[in-house]
Amino acid sequence: MACPMDRNMAQFGCNMAEASEGLLYGEYLQLDKVLDAQRLVSAEHNNEVHDEHLFIITHQAYELWFKQILFEVDSIRELFIQTELDERRMLEILKRTQRCVLILKLLVDQVMILETMTPLDFMEFRHYLSPASGFQSLQFRLLENKLGVRQENRAKYNQAHYLNVFSDGPQAKQLRDSEIEPSLCDLVQRWLERTPGLEEVGFNFWQKYQKVVEKVLDVEEQNAKRETNNEQVRATLLHNISKKKEQFESVFDPKIHDALVQRGERRFSHKALRGAILITFYRDEPRFNQPHQLLTALTDIDALITKWRYNHVMLVQRMLGSQQLGTGGSSGYHYLRSTLSDRYKVFLDLFNLSTFLIPRAFIPPLTQQMRYRLSLVEALGESKDSSSAKIDNEEDQ
Ligand code: HEM
Repeated sequence: MACPMDRNMAQFGCNMAEASEGLLYGEYLQLDKVLDAQRLVSAEHNNEVHDEHLFIITHQAYELWFKQILFEVDSIRELFIQTELDERRMLEILKRTQRCVLILKLLVDQVMILETMTPLDFMEFRHYLSPASGFQSLQFRLLENKLGVRQENRAKYNQAHYLNVFSDGPQAKQLRDSEIEPSLCDLVQRWLERTPGLEEVGFNFWQKYQKVVEKVLDVEEQNAKRETNNEQVRATLLHNISKKKEQFESVFDPKIHDALVQRGERRFSHKALRGAILITFYRDEPRFNQPHQLLTALTDIDALITKWRYNHVMLVQRMLGSQQLGTGGSSGYHYLRSTLSDRYKVFLDLFNLSTFLIPRAFIPPLTQQMRYRLSLVEALGESKDSSSAKIDNEEDQ
């Protein structure tokens, strides 16, 4: 059977003689290094344990995929930095983000393969591994930082900072740099703040949205007050509406929003959150199609990392139980459980967007000018003809 490499060579007119001077499959992939990197510590102790092979391969496969995700995330951050105003690169950003989503899906499922190893099997070689731990995974920490996990939101493990396990060499420097560099979350925030339609002149989405929300809540309140058959139902309905009002107030009042950011309950700036709401409402307009898909993919990334954390915690409990060893510290299991909280979600505000949605029928209609701005013609910066210029002068409704 012809391998894809042979087919490519044929396509480019290479004959086998030329090909033999080129790279062979194993050389190209440096398989000598990759396939020679499984050192069973149990075998070195003259007590080879069959499942240690799977344990090593699984971790190595994770680290290789972490490498690919980091490669993609770095390139996405680079594109955001370089192309502040150029939306032409959005397709590339989207494609790479969706690729990360697919890899993470794979990583979530990969835990299952390691679960075929029983705790008793693990016990047979576990003592040889000390003090090695996934806690020391450089790439996992880089990924968290580059996505935008906040340092102040991290749970401490046995009173220790995650950086303590990296001796003060190039790895520690790489990690400290990744804490300072703009994260993907910072860059997405900056991009959302420029969402067309947020300006206070022209369409002025925010003012319109506020008015509509007040109207929707008023209608709901009137309906609840008309509920006279059951006093308890009426009280519950009114209570829920008052809670909803409070939630909307938290997004309308920038001071309340900023206080929530301070408390770690929101992440984006007020302006960026407004941009995300605007994109969500008008996602059917051509210029918002891809931004909407990007917001969905970013939410997926966060959700999948949380799912991975959960699967890993379950694996750890299955293998080690939840006992606390030593004094003063938490068990690995309890520490890992604390990382499942919202404090580790980077795109938390995208998860919570649905709190601020209103029924489609109430979404403020676009003006003609705004519709034009959200068309691809405007997005790609093509020169406007006289008719579109006329639209520009149109009075907003
Ligand atoms: C038998 C399987 C596994 C066991 C028993 C296990 C156990 C643990 C434990 C107890 C911790 C907490 C830190 C510590 O006490 O050392 C931890 C952290 C970690 N493990 Fe695993 N692990 C397993 C498989 C994996 C796999 C396959 C990966 C894939 C890369 C992985 C990656 C990590 C990472 C990244 C952390 C740090 C998580 C954080 O701090 O949020 N582990 N593991």
